[in-house]
Amino acid sequence: MIRIAAVGDVHIDKDVVGRYRPALDELPDKADVLLLAGDLTRHGTEEEAHCVATEFGGLGVPVIAVLGNHDHQSDQPDAVTRVLTDAGITVLEGTGTVLEIAGVRLGVAGAKGFGGGFAGRCASNFGEPEMKAFVGTTEKIADSLGEALRALDCDVKVALTHYAPVPDTLVGEPLEIYPFLGCYQLGQAIDSAGVALALHGHAHHGTERGTTPGGVRVRNVAHPVIKAAYSVYHLLDDSETAGSTLAAAAR
Ligand SMILES: [Fe+2]
Ligand SMILES: [Fe+2]
Repeated sequence: MIRIAAVGDVHIDKDVVGRYRPALDELPDKADVLLLAGDLTRHGTEEEAHCVATEFGGLGVPVIAVLGNHDHQSDQPDAVTRVLTDAGITVLEGTGTVLEIAGVRLGVAGAKGFGGGFAGRCASNFGEPEMKAFVGTTEKIADSLGEALRALDCDVKVALTHYAPVPDTLVGEPLEIYPFLGCYQLGQAIDSAGVALALHGHAHHGTERGTTPGGVRVRNVAHPVIKAAYSVYHLLDDSETAGSTLAAAAR
């Protein structure tokens, strides 16, 4: 059994540093790896990235992350990535990594993802150049995720995104903003690659559980949804449990 801890949308700034740490310090007893589903900062500054590095660096388990839209807000995603990488956090964007856990090769591929919407209610590659650019971004990122997932040489695969691959986990959000919360192309990428679990964030008012059209379980691990420092999901064993709860002040 592999135990995957995950959380997204922690939106760390100076005033949040230390809030997650007591639960994170217990992580090695509860999980084998921690996945961070983007929106790690509030405005994507290097200073905030250092706060993320302080909070999530030096844990007793490997930490793998994707960035979110907030981590792009200051147009410094490379600087944010460098700070996280220097703290030992693996940052994925159209890429994957393989870890060996208890003799099992766990592959994780990730990408931020993008909006675009879901079947029947989505943007299409038609008309103005701005709309083609929008949908082109959606497709390019989803393609990179699919390629990274299919290239993983491992025993079990996990997909990590910030934007949602299915609408199931958006329930609770206004329907009008679904196209800005995720896209069906991410779900197609996940279904193309034999994935065991797909994790995302971004939809703060969404729902934890969903499924891709191909039957892959999807979990929205945005902190306001799971209301915990992280949730733990088991692979190669069908159970899953909520992780350590976080002080109410962090909600
Ligand atoms: Fe967020
Ligand atoms: Fe977000």
